[in-house]
Amino acid sequence: PIDPMSITFQPPTGGMTPSGPVLSRRMSDLEGLFADTAAWRAARDEADPVVYEVASSPVPEAPGELPQSITTIHPGAVGGEFHMTKGHQHPNPQGEIYLGLSGTGGLLLFDGTTPKWIPMAPGVIGYIPPGWAHRSVNTGDEPYRFLAVYPGDAGHDYGWVLEHGMGWRVLRGAGEPRFAPFQAEPV
Ligand code: PA5
Ligand code: NI
Repeated sequence: PIDPMSITFQPPTGGMTPSGPVLSRRMSDLEGLFADTAAWRAARDEADPVVYEVASSPVPEAPGELPQSITTIHPGAVGGEFHMTKGHQHPNPQGEIYLGLSGTGGLLLFDGTTPKWIPMAPGVIGYIPPGWAHRSVNTGDEPYRFLAVYPGDAGHDYGWVLEHGMGWRVLRGAGEPRFAPFQAEPV
């Protein structure tokens, strides 16, 4: 256990003070996730941009604790499919809470049968029930940033999403995002 503490959110960067580990996911880290493999490869080979960053609090991932992280997804799309996180299941099924901080995006949830979409914006709380895989998507043209709070022993299973997908793909539409069945190539 650790002592009670306050953590200060740094709005310009999405960082936390004090901070735990900060990680960057580049295009090269997202192999097999975007439908348009040729567009993904071209983006990786050209500039390999940072797609999203995750700043973690110093709270440990241990039973009973409630660690937090702040994710910033940079705007953009690959073959029309919006920038997104890898997505994962919690192998120890437990809920999670997201709070939109800035920008516009959404929370794509999938229980293996039915996909659900929660539009996210500053001040919106998205609730992820136990057993639902989750992925975040930036549907706007500025960075989309949110806070996540999760049980310290929930764990992260990334293989589940590679195997089952997330039900839908979230594509750039005329104004609103467009949803395509997971298998479909973007048009
Ligand atoms: O706890 C969460 O669900 C989030 O903090 C995510 O881990 C974060 O958004 C990054 O996504 P992923 O872990 O799917 O790469
Ligand atoms: Ni999670």
